[in-house]
Amino acid sequence: MSKISEKIRYVGVNDLKTTAFEGMWPLPFGVSYNSYLVMDEKVALIDTAEVDFAAEYMENVRKELDGRKIDYMVVNHMEPDHSSLMALVREAYPDVRIVGNAKTVPMIRGYQGVTDNIHVVKDGESISLGGSTLTFYMTPMVHWPETMMTYFNEEKTLFSGDAFGCFGAVDGEVTDAGAMLFGSTAAAENTFAAFREEMRRYYSNIVGKYGQTVQSALKKLSGLEISRVCSTHGPVWEKHLPEVVGFYDRLSRYEGEKGVCIVYASMYGNTASAAKALAAELDKRGVEYAIHNLCTENVSYAYRDVFKYDTLIVGSPTYNNDIFPPVYNFMYGVSARLVKNRRFAAFGSFTWAGASVKLLNEMAAKCGFDLVSDGLSFPQAYSPDKCDMSALADRIQ
Ligand code: FEO
Repeated sequence: MSKISEKIRYVGVNDLKTTAFEGMWPLPFGVSYNSYLVMDEKVALIDTAEVDFAAEYMENVRKELDGRKIDYMVVNHMEPDHSSLMALVREAYPDVRIVGNAKTVPMIRGYQGVTDNIHVVKDGESISLGGSTLTFYMTPMVHWPETMMTYFNEEKTLFSGDAFGCFGAVDGEVTDAGAMLFGSTAAAENTFAAFREEMRRYYSNIVGKYGQTVQSALKKLSGLEISRVCSTHGPVWEKHLPEVVGFYDRLSRYEGEKGVCIVYASMYGNTASAAKALAAELDKRGVEYAIHNLCTENVSYAYRDVFKYDTLIVGSPTYNNDIFPPVYNFMYGVSARLVKNRRFAAFGSFTWAGASVKLLNEMAAKCGFDLVSDGLSFPQAYSPDKCDMSALADRIQ
């Protein structure tokens, strides 16, 4: 599992015990924290892993080094899932020189208390490991200010940090020639198909706000010949690299596929009945859709499908003369992710005065969404004559 090439070794770990990434996002298939050794006359370690996995990680590193020492520890990204073992690595290999950029330095000090033996690199600078060259490209806000990527020139390999990463621990091989999504029972034709939805969910949940800077990074890297991407999460991409890059490009351009994402929450089942009625109408018309109930499901999956489909239909009852809080929080998250180019409509029940649909329309308008309907606001219990989902389905099919 660990050998990617003669000179590149995988030393990362699978996390199957954390239930919520960043304390928020469910991990039904776990997640991997990938780290790599590039071994030539000198040895470079690319990123580390999460501190809870110290023993397993340090053993992986020791085993691959087979008595050698680490000369450089490259820090592509300082988020603690990749950097919280830096101090421990330094303790085990005291001569190691840390390689980061100007924005990394204060974060290393703040998170790890390390201030010395740091080699600061600028965009396009390289270090030599002997016959191997590592070149550093600054890719700020993918998805933190200090994020950079490391290119191994001779092997056309990009160590990309979180970019091209995904949720899901990696089972079997680490490369996409045979990597499998840990614990998944769904049949998948290949590794990209197996991880695609967990990549979309990771992107939408974690990186989603930064489409513009991801696009800048893709543009910057487009001049490099890349045949392998080693991300910090998920499989190493070789065979399916063109599909992965194309997918990432579309995600970061907020390009939705044809289909509908229905997201709702409901107190007493009336807004839920309207949501289900819309789903039934879309079924009749053969329109692809996903439906998410925010009262029973983590919002992570709704965000994934907001990024998947070109149409967003949101249902909320009126609550305290406002949007029902779970739906408000969801819409706030859509807006915070700067989602663009979506068709939109709202629906929802009220008891004595309707406010949610009007307020949802206002939020959608601020996002620049194309409102396909004024919305369907109905009093008290749901019935088809009060809330005509057939007409809405006709408009969005
Ligand atoms: Fe996987 Fe932004 O850390």
